[in-house]
Amino acid sequence: MKKTIWVINGPNINMLGIREPNIYGYRTYKNLIKEIKKHAKEKNVKVKCFQSNYEGELVSIIQKAYFKKIDGIVINPAAYTHYSVAILDALKATNIDTIEVHISDVNNREDFRKISFVRSYVKECITGPNCYIEAIDKLL
Ligand code: DQA
Repeated sequence: MKKTIWVINGPNINMLGIREPNIYGYRTYKNLIKEIKKHAKEKNVKVKCFQSNYEGELVSIIQKAYFKKIDGIVINPAAYTHYSVAILDALKATNIDTIEVHISDVNNREDFRKISFVRSYVKECITGPNCYIEAIDKLL
């Protein structure tokens, strides 16, 4: 059976291509999703992409992943990475294999970006513009 992976993006990821292109590049959110879907097709995996600017909505999406018996999660919690206990707790409740991703090199930016509340749960953290594709491959 085809595996299902959910790609979950946090606040401001919908602003890719507009927000700080010197850090996040000029690729739009729409094009990022296109790239992810193309890759998923090539790898014969079902991928569903989500984006929300609201912490509670992200928690609800993660909970839904549990009830839908999703095989893996790729999550970019964006700013919530650095302070959301709620997202960490939601991930822990699912027990689903999860990879944390960041487009920018969070370890070489401001000190507060080096802190990740989800890091204690995820299998791995991948950074860089190709992080989503690499994370999908790792989960497979
Ligand atoms: C980010 C890094 C976060 O620090 C930031 O708040 C984001 C995006 C990244 O993908 O590089 O919104 O998660």
